[in-house]
Amino acid sequence: VVVEPQRYEYGPELIPATADSGEGMWRWRGLLPVDGSGMYPLKVGGTPLVASRRLRQQLGAPGLVLKDETRTPTGSNKDRATALCLVDAASRGATAIACASSGNVACSLAAGAAAMGLAAYIFVSARTVSPAKVDFMRSFGATVFLVDGPYERAYRLCDDACERFDWYNRNTATNPLALQAKKTVAFEVWEQLGRKMPDVVYLPVGDGVTLAAYVHGCEELIRCGVADRLPRVVGVQASGAAPLVRTFEAGCAAWEAETTRTIADGIDVGDPYFGRQALDAVARTGGSWVAVTDDDLRTAMATLARTSGLLAEPAGAAALAGVIAHREQITAPDQTVVALVSGTGLKDQRWLPREGGRSVDIAASLEGVERALWGT
Ligand SMILES: Cc1ncc(COP(=O)(O)O)c(C=O)c1O
Repeated sequence: VVVEPQRYEYGPELIPATADSGEGMWRWRGLLPVDGSGMYPLKVGGTPLVASRRLRQQLGAPGLVLKDETRTPTGSNKDRATALCLVDAASRGATAIACASSGNVACSLAAGAAAMGLAAYIFVSARTVSPAKVDFMRSFGATVFLVDGPYERAYRLCDDACERFDWYNRNTATNPLALQAKKTVAFEVWEQLGRKMPDVVYLPVGDGVTLAAYVHGCEELIRCGVADRLPRVVGVQASGAAPLVRTFEAGCAAWEAETTRTIADGIDVGDPYFGRQALDAVARTGGSWVAVTDDDLRTAMATLARTSGLLAEPAGAAALAGVIAHREQITAPDQTVVALVSGTGLKDQRWLPREGGRSVDIAASLEGVERALWGT
């Protein structure tokens, strides 16, 4: 697939004038290369911005808001890119679409392809993919190829297979539509804040497309003349898969591909395909990078669940883990801080923060309840 880079006549008329009446992402058609309204069967975009009172109190961060990207057809921000790519694929007459994935891109593609009537071919690392997510993909009728190697090997195999079998390629850093779709999150946050840029945005980074797209979206708002500054963007990686954090900290131009180890499969990437663009994007915003440990991720998941009723997977809670790591810096009441919650915990229940609650065998009696509560 070759998609020409889009050239827009930037101006405020490209911004939707009215509120979302259920169209979701397609409201931003003035700034999208393809308009899928009326064509894409699943509802994508228009996710809530959540000001969680209890989370704000617990972290002492009065201006913190969560962009809840778990509220999409398959529970991750990948559904935006999938929608745009599938509409493009269908309009080109494609009958099959393929991707490599750490899990969520594939779940999203499997569901979207089923709804659009295309065959889905998926390449995942057999070493790191969540078995529950593979079941999820299969449930939608996708063919899943389990690759003996890391995500990067699955990615290259997928690119090669698309060449050989003439499948439409949805690979996140190969197909420019992925970035075009993901930038709509930045538009929505700006709009939901009353047409204002936030001060700081924390974003999880695997391949780096989500982050680069967010900054690109903010830059387009400036080009349209409706915003006058960028937010400071903080890229968050898992400390077991943090090539870009290390590059930033060392002040280097390039990174060494790493062998990775983290519970956060969505950001388990040792050689990011969009790493250069992500590093440059953070630099343009005057932002920074932070690494969070698996324990930090578990704490962030538990905090989200128990203060806000929001269940995230480890990668989905990474941005909040970054916020927690920087909590001393975000206490000003007039500072708006956004954390992107990029993926739901419902699809992969291995890491649920269960220790927050308990289950007690009460043998069908109220005495059992009393014993459990008071030990009497
Ligand atoms: C839940 C979740 N968060 C974040 C990311 C990272 O996104 P990107 O690869 O665009 O950096 C992924 C990627 O799969 C993901 O699944």
